[in-house]
Amino acid sequence: MPTPVVDSDSLRHRFAERFGAPPALVVRAPGRVNLIGEHTDYNDGFVLPVAIDRAVFLAASLRDDRRVILHALDLDATDEFTLETITRAEVGHWSNYQRGVAAVLQAQGYDLPGLNVAFAGTVPVGAGLSSSAAVELAIAWAWCELGELSIERAALALACQRAEHEYVGTQCGIMDQFISALGRRDYALLIDCRSLDYRQVPLPGGADARIVVCDSGVRRELAASAYNERRAQCRQAVELLRARLPGITALRDVTVEGFQAHAEALPAVIRRRARHVITENARALEAVAALENGDLVRFGELMKASHRSLRDDYQVSCAELDTLVEAAWAVEGCYGSRLTGAGFGGCTVSLVDGAAVEAFRQAVSDAYRRKHARTPAIYVCTAENGVGRI
Ligand code: GLA
Repeated sequence: MPTPVVDSDSLRHRFAERFGAPPALVVRAPGRVNLIGEHTDYNDGFVLPVAIDRAVFLAASLRDDRRVILHALDLDATDEFTLETITRAEVGHWSNYQRGVAAVLQAQGYDLPGLNVAFAGTVPVGAGLSSSAAVELAIAWAWCELGELSIERAALALACQRAEHEYVGTQCGIMDQFISALGRRDYALLIDCRSLDYRQVPLPGGADARIVVCDSGVRRELAASAYNERRAQCRQAVELLRARLPGITALRDVTVEGFQAHAEALPAVIRRRARHVITENARALEAVAALENGDLVRFGELMKASHRSLRDDYQVSCAELDTLVEAAWAVEGCYGSRLTGAGFGGCTVSLVDGAAVEAFRQAVSDAYRRKHARTPAIYVCTAENGVGRI
């Protein structure tokens, strides 16, 4: 295994070793954890993510031709392409993120320079903490700075989302790219995924509550197809409800009361999917109000309700995530806990009183080990700024 490169000094050093001169810049693009508002972004709804202190670090310098030479230090792998005619690498290849970002920015009319690039990260890959969005934003930012492009952060997030749709093939929503672009230290971000308006919501101080992420270690091959299937079911719910609720274009437009009045028009599975999204939007907004009123107990209850809804109605949990969440719920000083990200494996997020973090770590690890004979990775996270030069 190559040595993991986790700080900007060692990254600079490895870049110089590889390319014979120091980089012109080092970029940091954060991963994220979503506090509440799950599977709502592609329904034009509300999400409340946090950019975290696990990130992708990317060193780059200009080339005088139009080639892009990429060195993925964590994989000890190199790849290159030319900006003249960008082609896709094979399905699943790591460089499709950078190829996609380049292709989308060029299609939008930006003139991109060739780059030498080395990158590495501390966001666990495939864990639902958005390592993909971080990789996209990191290279996009390098092109903005070294190519002297002036692109708003929200527009950059949209370009990266498009790259993921067109080059990687995941039909993701906008949450991950948006928070990696626009996160702010000590704040969560309420995003309206229809208008892309957002509001920074202050988080409690570390002594009052910490954000704790538990990684189940479960990685599911089928996650992408199940994700796309959920999206299709949501579209189907809108089609069916439109006959009763004219004018709706997304589940975001349906209130909890409106849904209750017309739920019987939907087949059972579609009804459950819609019920999750519609109640989750309401929970996300209520959770923001609770956070702004300093009511962490209410916030935690909403996290629990979110998990139950994801487990029972949206059906994107799994035994390992349920064990982590239920163990967390039982810890005194844990306000709430739920699966975070797309689900089907990956991580949970918990809000834990600062004084209870060690007891939490112990109790959740013990429960997980007893039931699944493995140890979860547990990270206490801080809320950090979005992508930028360091
Ligand atoms: C993945 C997607 C996001 C979002 C979440 C579920 O992380 O990339 O856009 O849909 O799943 O909330």
